[in-house]
Amino acid sequence: MALRQRLDLLRWELRQVKQLIGAHRSRHSSFDARAATWDTPEKVQRAVWVGDEIRQFAWFRAAPEAMGRCLDFGCGTGLLSFELQKHCRHVTGLDESSGMVEVMQEKICAAGLGSKMMATKSPLATLGDFDLIVSLLCIHHVRDCQAQLGELARHLSRGGRVVIVDFEATENARLFHKKSEAKGDHYEHDGCLGM
Ligand SMILES: C[S@@+](CC[C@H](N)C(=O)[O-])C[C@H]1O[C@@H](n2cnc3c(N)ncnc32)[C@H](O)[C@@H]1O
Repeated sequence: MALRQRLDLLRWELRQVKQLIGAHRSRHSSFDARAATWDTPEKVQRAVWVGDEIRQFAWFRAAPEAMGRCLDFGCGTGLLSFELQKHCRHVTGLDESSGMVEVMQEKICAAGLGSKMMATKSPLATLGDFDLIVSLLCIHHVRDCQAQLGELARHLSRGGRVVIVDFEATENARLFHKKSEAKGDHYEHDGCLGM
């Protein structure tokens, strides 16, 4: 085979491999593989701490039993959702990882909370409006944060609240992430935090 033909063949094979990798990535998040072992004492403690911080807000203290519909965006296995469920009429955990959603749904069933909690991968556009939207350590995974926050804001009911707990561009965030994940002041990666 002529050199040119071999090169064309190699290029074609490379394109096939890239397409396969792309398809695999779009269907599977690296969080899928981590879902079953996600709940460590440290992460549970972190969710308790964040829940306690949310409970300190004056607007929360004014109506601790009446938070209405809550969305936990990037819920993972639902650690924060479970922390907040007793204060809310209903909590929806939304995550793009099937593995995380499955684990959260199993936990909901095991706790007998199927009537007031659900875990889903469904598009936000199909989920309606929320009185409280929380997000713990998810937004730094999102490529276009501004667009994402805009979308979340459109799903907030009148007088609703959004609480985002995430990294700022601090030294700590820089230590926590690989240099290759930096996009200006922002970090992008898909799992592998080693938390
Ligand atoms: C670091 S984990 C945090 C999980 C959970 N909030 C916790 O504190 O245990 C980030 C989660 O965000 C999810 N995620 C990342 N990008 C997302 C997106 N665009 N929409 C929904 N979930 C996303 C990941 O699948 C992952 O479960």
